[in-house]
Amino acid sequence: METKLLSQFVGDPQQHSIERAIEHGAYQAWQKVLKEIAPADLIQIVKDSGLRGRGGAGFPTGMKWGFVPKETLKPKYLCCNADESEPGTCKDRVLLEGDPHAVVEGMMIASYAIDCHTAFFYIRGEYDVGQVRMSKAIDDAYAKGFLGKNILGSGYDLDIVVHRGGGAYICGEETALLSSLEGDKGLARLKPPFPAVEGLYNCPTIINNVETLANLPHIVMKGAQWFAGLGTEKSKGTRIFSVSGHVKNPGNYELELGYSLRDLVYGLAGGILDDKPLKAIIPGGSSTPLLLPDKIDTKLDFESVAAAGSMLGSGAVIVIHEETCIVWVAEILAHFYMHESCGKCTPCRQGTGWMYEILRRIEAGHGKMEDIDTLLDIADNIEGNTICPLGDAAAVPVISTVKLFRDEYVYHIEHGKCKVRSQFRLRVK
Ligand SMILES: Cc1cc2nc3c(=O)[nH]c(=O)nc-3n(C[C@H](O)[C@H](O)[C@H](O)COP(=O)(O)O)c2cc1C
Repeated sequence: METKLLSQFVGDPQQHSIERAIEHGAYQAWQKVLKEIAPADLIQIVKDSGLRGRGGAGFPTGMKWGFVPKETLKPKYLCCNADESEPGTCKDRVLLEGDPHAVVEGMMIASYAIDCHTAFFYIRGEYDVGQVRMSKAIDDAYAKGFLGKNILGSGYDLDIVVHRGGGAYICGEETALLSSLEGDKGLARLKPPFPAVEGLYNCPTIINNVETLANLPHIVMKGAQWFAGLGTEKSKGTRIFSVSGHVKNPGNYELELGYSLRDLVYGLAGGILDDKPLKAIIPGGSSTPLLLPDKIDTKLDFESVAAAGSMLGSGAVIVIHEETCIVWVAEILAHFYMHESCGKCTPCRQGTGWMYEILRRIEAGHGKMEDIDTLLDIADNIEGNTICPLGDAAAVPVISTVKLFRDEYVYHIEHGKCKVRSQFRLRVK
């Protein structure tokens, strides 16, 4: 069963209007924060709640806020990361379109906690409806006096600026996002310094994911202990899982962390399309290692998915049935990473292209047996040798598919063709 916390009003077609959102309790948490909670206490509440980032890495949110220097004279910034480009992931979109005021309110609460007076909402260029709804939500929040100068007589000022990205996966990586916001090409920066200390315009900056921020009004209203009671010992709260691929009912499902992968795939998502056998699952977006069917009873929380050999990542569960060519899966993912590599680091810029070319050759039936080791060698030379984790992400599908399905690569090379064919097979140019 779903636990609809963030998505509870998403199905209401009017929830994007401020009137309906207020009817459903929007901005109560914001008023409570302004009247009753000091910034340091707010950070402690979020620490106590156990909330971890929903953007991919799962870093504890309150702890990250705590890294912002208190004594600095520089302005502090908050950026809401709505770049959402990891293949398979479409969870932020439902919040931006279906309950934008929850995201705006989350941005307000986070800004107050870190003493930020100008926050940025960074959204990928392709999210038209999300951008329109968020811009309107922000305008309406100004009109109601929830944003601007001396908000509700509290003495606290906050502006939110909307920034529309060009539509690049790399701009979801936090340092590339900052470069893009500053008007440069979206190229990643070396860390440290981490953005919390030196980010936008060299000032302390917190970057948080849309879903992370949307949790904050609930934590403020219902308390840290209540939130910490949801989920598992180390993975608290809910997550919106985007289920795609070979399932009967693809879609977004909000689940308490710790929910069983089997119940998600075979229960809520209706099971495998045409009742075919399951071949593999990518549990956390395209940059996370594949899991074989024997891991179907894995619990969907950060620790359990890691113990099973993968990562919870962005919560995008991609289901692959038995008749799918795994070399083709690796090829389309390699094409994506080649296309999205920002080109700053040589191993990623060159390696993603080479991996794609070799995979394409194998898939087309012209592979050589040594190609398999060459692929692994290239992936190994990318992994850990780039400024940002896009390189690691590109290496993962190659390493993971060769490790789990080496026999399929060998068959392709020996027979010049695939032993299985997906009915969804599309050619990537
Ligand atoms: C290549 C790449 C793309 C990313 N894309 C996104 C994204 O679209 N949205 C997001 O929230 N985080 C994305 N991240 C993670 C961010 O760098 C960052 O960790 C996150 O926004 C922090 O927010 P959180 O602590 O609330 O999770 C990406 C990371 C990498 C390496």
